[in-house]
Amino acid sequence: MRPAAPEDAPALAALHAKAFPPTGRWGADAIRLMLEMPGAFGLHAKGGFVLARVAADEAEILTLAVAPGHRRRGLGGALLAGAMAQAVLRGAAAMFLEVSEANAAARALYAAAGFAEAGRRRRYYPDGADALVLRRDLSPS
Ligand SMILES: CC(C)(COP(=O)(O)OP(=O)(O)OC[C@H]1O[C@@H](n2cnc3c(N)ncnc32)[C@H](O)[C@@H]1OP(=O)(O)O)[C@@H](O)C(=O)NCCC(=O)NCCS
Repeated sequence: MRPAAPEDAPALAALHAKAFPPTGRWGADAIRLMLEMPGAFGLHAKGGFVLARVAADEAEILTLAVAPGHRRRGLGGALLAGAMAQAVLRGAAAMFLEVSEANAAARALYAAAGFAEAGRRRRYYPDGADALVLRRDLSPS
């Protein structure tokens, strides 16, 4: 796993297209702009990547994608753990993310990583599904 740079955007967009349905895909330009936002960072591994952002003491997962052929081998969990560790180093005390209520795999991954529901955005996704806002404390317990 290594830090993602704006030059990695085309490779990350290709992974994103494998991981998400056509309506949810992000192009290389969008990913490059995200990586250039203040506080943003990414981690890139063979088969998947995560983009996140820290603002003040809060971190947010922008996207997490593992290509179908690389799933259920711990990569998603490792990318999420790496993003949490990087967020702590950058001063975050809590991490937030949005996940579709219909996304059972991601919800299971986030629950296993200690995230809990903190809110809901009704009919947030193009398929009409609600988004769950999940939160995890990053302070040492
Ligand atoms: C969600 C996603 C990132 C998981 O990646 P992954 O590499 O398969 O995840 P891991 O192998 O690290 O799984 C960790 C745990 O999450 C849970 N999990 C992951 N996929 C699951 C599935 N399909 N069904 C049920 N639980 C699942 C399990 O508890 C799993 O542990 P286990 O394999 O020991 O049972 C991947 O499925 C993906 O990219 N999906 C499409 C994009 C997406 O939904 N991203 C998240 C948007 S918020």
